[in-house]
Amino acid sequence: MNTNIIVKEIFYESPEYYLELELRNEVLRKPLGMNLYDQDLSTEKNYIRIAAFDENQQILGTLILVPQENGVIQMKQMAVRESAQGMKIGKKIIQFAEDLIISKGFSKIILNARKVALPFYLKSGYEIQGDEFQEVGIPHFKMSKIVK
Ligand SMILES: CC(C)(COP(=O)(O)OP(=O)(O)OC[C@H]1O[C@@H](n2cnc3c(N)ncnc32)[C@H](O)[C@@H]1OP(=O)(O)O)[C@@H](O)C(=O)NCCC(=O)NCCS
Repeated sequence: MNTNIIVKEIFYESPEYYLELELRNEVLRKPLGMNLYDQDLSTEKNYIRIAAFDENQQILGTLILVPQENGVIQMKQMAVRESAQGMKIGKKIIQFAEDLIISKGFSKIILNARKVALPFYLKSGYEIQGDEFQEVGIPHFKMSKIVK
């Protein structure tokens, strides 16, 4: 399956953008009893967006990047379709994102990791910063990675 995975940058209000929203809602919001479309998504207009697709153009994973100040960029909304989890798609998306981040001149990546996803980020070289906190009603940790 993995040999035919395409990871690419996608753009606000493109056809792929609406697939991204659907996947985020399925993987990150509905299991918490929430609805992504209840929030004001226009605030995400200038974010950098990455998605993974299979050979049938089905979306399998997504990640958004939010530029901050001083060379820092935040990763948000990392999600892989449930039926495709554990197949290294998340890893491919992170690798693609880090290459893009470096090419754009950022030097530090920050993110709020769900506690259940900590091992995934630790394996990609992200370090825990500080204590556990709650976000969307579930435990999280701040993590970061210096890239160059
Ligand atoms: C967390 C998530 C993004 C990981 O993506 P994935 O495609 O399933 O992960 P990969 O197959 O690329 O895994 C990469 C490595 O991390 C490990 N890993 C991934 N998720 C893990 C988990 N929950 N617990 C332990 N290890 C995990 C894999 O075993 C693999 O290790 P290896 O390289 O030694 O074989 C995905 O499972 C997901 O969307 N989960 C639900 C939503 C979520 O929690 N998102 C994160 C929000 S912060």
